[in-house]
Amino acid sequence: MSIKIITADISHAAIIGTIGKKSFRKSFEHLFKNKEELLEYLENTYCPVKLAKSLRHEDNIYLLAFIDGEPAGFAKIKKYSLNEHIDSVSQMELQKIYVLGEHQGKGIGSALLTEVKKIAKEGSPDYLWLDTHISNDKAIGFYEKNGFRKMGKYYFTIGSQTFEYHIMGLPVALAVGSAC
Ligand SMILES: CC(C)(COP(=O)(O)OP(=O)(O)OC[C@H]1O[C@@H](n2cnc3c(N)ncnc32)[C@H](O)[C@@H]1OP(=O)(O)O)[C@@H](O)C(=O)NCCC(=O)NCCS
Repeated sequence: MSIKIITADISHAAIIGTIGKKSFRKSFEHLFKNKEELLEYLENTYCPVKLAKSLRHEDNIYLLAFIDGEPAGFAKIKKYSLNEHIDSVSQMELQKIYVLGEHQGKGIGSALLTEVKKIAKEGSPDYLWLDTHISNDKAIGFYEKNGFRKMGKYYFTIGSQTFEYHIMGLPVALAVGSAC
């Protein structure tokens, strides 16, 4: 089994959209009372025009993971993104990390996060941060194992529902050791 990570470009927009939608539905569909709102959210988030613009944006880095040559996961980094819960003006955001359900637990998320940490090390912000739904125990465990800690709460409304998230941060100086 071989895992390869590349920096994605505009040609990967469709596969990133597919992975994002499938992985999100598998993990979070049960939280939505109204399926229409879920579908609308996903269509809007992964709208091809919007995604193409996001892939071209110089502030964003998309990484795409392949397992045995098949696309299986991606991560999106926002190089300059400040979170009010973190007391620093130098922060990078890991905005998305999604692995297809059938490929979870095979080390793809870890491989993506190792690459994300390398990029953070190069940019050397004080913090790398992310948000994750409070019920997402698997991801929370994965992040804690990788040195992130909970630093606050965040609320985001989709349609008629408001969801609660943990803000988790990793001091990049500490990440250096575990990424290399
Ligand atoms: C979270 C996610 C990115 C992790 O990717 P993955 O490819 O499944 O993770 P890996 O196979 O690299 O395993 C990650 C590590 O976390 C560990 N882990 C998993 N669940 C855990 C838990 N509940 N507590 C502690 N560690 C846990 C695994 O044991 C593994 O450690 P190991 O390498 O020492 O065995 C992936 O499961 C995913 O895409 N989930 C659905 C979408 C999602 O929740 N995205 C994050 C939104 S914030």
